[in-house]
Amino acid sequence: MQTHIASRVLRTSDFATDAAKQIVAAGLEAISRNGVFRLGLAGGNTPKAVYSALAELTHDLPWNRIQITFGDERCVAQDHPDSNYRMAYEALLSRVPIPEGNIFRIRGEIDPAEAASEYEARLGSVAARFGETRYRHDLLLLGLGEDGHTASLFPGYPALDEQERNVIPTLGPKPPPQRITFTLPLINASKSVVFLVNDRTKEPVVQSALKGEYPSGKVAPSDGGVLWLLGHEACAP
Ligand code: 6PG
Repeated sequence: MQTHIASRVLRTSDFATDAAKQIVAAGLEAISRNGVFRLGLAGGNTPKAVYSALAELTHDLPWNRIQITFGDERCVAQDHPDSNYRMAYEALLSRVPIPEGNIFRIRGEIDPAEAASEYEARLGSVAARFGETRYRHDLLLLGLGEDGHTASLFPGYPALDEQERNVIPTLGPKPPPQRITFTLPLINASKSVVFLVNDRTKEPVVQSALKGEYPSGKVAPSDGGVLWLLGHEACAP
């Protein structure tokens, strides 16, 4: 029985580049081991610079062997300014030679329950091909909210308690309120999780999460590691 590997903290003054290099290293390792790299993207604003830096390293990865998922999505059209897909597409996916079929977009524009169950089924069919009971990301990128949320798992919301499903619709206090999110069971099935934080004001939240507090503090893969990559703006004073 694997035990949860303790979280690591890495502080950097070159946040975007170091994060991109972490992703490339994880990708090459996964592809050498299994022939594919299953990478989950974080939403929000912080990852934008990381995705741009990763696009600059495009020749370092065989993009036809990379499968992209989204840890959460707002229930908006894919070209809406609030769409996490749009952010990732503009910063990364439009700039690398990844086959469209390798990008698992959450359809935020349709009924949320339908979008969640369709995504659940899509992850399930890949998991079955890998002989997994639950889809396992090689690397899942996550952000951190000021209230300690991650993906769209907000403190006090029932989505945090989901123990069976992998992808569910939820509401949240951060606009837009209607979202689709990965659940803790799916997040904790990951082989590796990297939190991307580049905001000094979030340092107290990071410290609390490292003690297991907040939804973000519940990220503890049973057979995987957690790295907190903190940009110079997030470093303790
Ligand atoms: C979302 C994200 C969310 C985000 C944090 C941090 O869809 O909003 O998944 O979890 O990662 O709120 O957002 P910033 O990077 O913009 O601070």
